[in-house]
Amino acid sequence: MDFLMTEPAYKLLIFLCMIRGTYGELIEYNADTTAVEGQNVSLQCIVGEEHDITIIQLEWIKQQNGNEKNNQMIAVFHPGFPINYFQSGHFLKTVSNSKTGKLQGSILTLYKVTAKNSGNYICEITSYPTGSIKRTAKLQVTEPPASVKMSYPYGFIKEGDDVKITCSASPPPLRYKLGCSKDRIFWLESSNGEFILPRTTRNDSDVYICLPEWDSLVQNQQGLNATMELTVNFLDGIECNTSSPLNISVGEDVAISCIAKASQDLAYKWMRGDTTLSLSDTLSLTSVTSDQSGTYKLTAVFLDNQLQTDMKFSIHVLSKQSEANENTFENGDEPLRQDSLQSYSRCRQFTVFRALQNNESVCEVNVTEPKTQKCPDTRTEKSGYATSI
Ligand SMILES: *[C@@H]1O[C@H](CO)[C@@H](O)[C@H](O)[C@H]1NC(C)=O
Ligand SMILES: *[C@@H]1O[C@H](CO)[C@@H](O)[C@H](O)[C@H]1NC(C)=O
Ligand SMILES: *[C@@H]1O[C@H](CO)[C@@H](O)[C@H](O)[C@H]1NC(C)=O
Ligand SMILES: *[C@@H]1O[C@H](CO)[C@@H](O)[C@H](O)[C@H]1NC(C)=O
Ligand SMILES: *[C@@H]1O[C@H](CO)[C@@H](O)[C@H](O)[C@H]1NC(C)=O
Ligand SMILES: *[C@@H]1O[C@H](CO)[C@@H](O)[C@H](O)[C@H]1NC(C)=O
Ligand SMILES: *[C@@H]1O[C@H](CO)[C@@H](O)[C@H](O)[C@H]1NC(C)=O
Repeated sequence: MDFLMTEPAYKLLIFLCMIRGTYGELIEYNADTTAVEGQNVSLQCIVGEEHDITIIQLEWIKQQNGNEKNNQMIAVFHPGFPINYFQSGHFLKTVSNSKTGKLQGSILTLYKVTAKNSGNYICEITSYPTGSIKRTAKLQVTEPPASVKMSYPYGFIKEGDDVKITCSASPPPLRYKLGCSKDRIFWLESSNGEFILPRTTRNDSDVYICLPEWDSLVQNQQGLNATMELTVNFLDGIECNTSSPLNISVGEDVAISCIAKASQDLAYKWMRGDTTLSLSDTLSLTSVTSDQSGTYKLTAVFLDNQLQTDMKFSIHVLSKQSEANENTFENGDEPLRQDSLQSYSRCRQFTVFRALQNNESVCEVNVTEPKTQKCPDTRTEKSGYATSI
């Protein structure tokens, strides 16, 4: 019984092969075509130029799927008449020999195909002297594989920015959910896949996950997700291991080391005026002189220049106390010379204390500031008074 059933099918197969063998090159057509939903598909059915065939009429017919009996006419073309379409969404283009202008066949285009467009398409050419020629083109339209992707529009995000995260999935889901890996309990929901994170902070830096939810019919897509890392950049103020202003004495060494907390590696630059002194976070000055007093500027900048901060640091170089002592005591009773006023002006508290014990009135406690002229003035006056005793 089984054998009897299969025998006619076997014969039919041989018959088809014979036709292919005989007319294989007669008509160029797309025997098997696969497409993804949404694509435009073109099926051609063209008589080879070497065959001297006169085409009288062209037809495209969709063979009904399954057990449906009737085929569906798509389009008919007869030279001298406009193309007659039976269905929309299709476009028929006739093809003629470029030299002779003789009709050679046609190309049927189906726009934005869906799974429903899958099936067999029969192209029928009525010709002389060959008669009726039929070819069947099989088209299979598959759903695009389910996919989900995430993006955010800004290349660089810093604290305070509003960040729009876009999640898109195919086929379109019922809704999108957005979560972050730090806090899986918290999910945001959106119907169109757009999520706004307002005024982001460094705490929003995280790996985000987008989870589309399809209806329950779409089984194998559940759990499909996309992840994306979001970095919210920040650059805090600069902090140093020494506070500004810094008082140091002539001849001393100093090293100031600073750091700024940031989301990326930083490039540091110490400058005074237009002169670059250091390209690291540390400024080292050895054996300072009084003309190194002044304002220094430290800049911290992202390697890609996206964020920058700077800080001013004042250094006061004070004259050595020994210098002041010498002038005070060794030259104590000598009339003051103009050039020694500078050193008196820098005398320090220690000097003052000892000088008072000797009843030599000199600088007061608050004369440590190097640039003020108050100390020498005072000293001059009081010194004059002391020597007159
Ligand atoms: C399909 O064809 C239409 C009309 O020519 C065109 O606008 C559209 O971009 C095409 N679609 C694809 C996926 O190529
Ligand atoms: C980040 O979170 C920490 C602890 O949760 C909090 O102390 C800090 O203020 C937050 N920072 C910002 C910029 O929101
Ligand atoms: C996201 O997808 C991965 C596989 O790609 C899966 O292991 C994970 O469980 C999914 N996450 C969620 C929350 O569904
Ligand atoms: C600051 O840091 C520099 C470099 O590390 C160091 O030489 C210096 O002693 C530090 N200064 C203070 C006050 O800690
Ligand atoms: C310093 O002067 C005061 C008065 O101005 C006097 O009483 C005191 O004895 C003097 N001391 C010395 C060490 O000369
Ligand atoms: C020293 O400080 C006192 C207050 O502490 C002030 O009255 C006086 O004017 C100051 N003297 C000088 C020379 O700056
Ligand atoms: C540095 O000297 C100035 C006066 O010259 C004084 O006001 C300041 O308090 C001093 N700073 C330190 C850290 O000693």
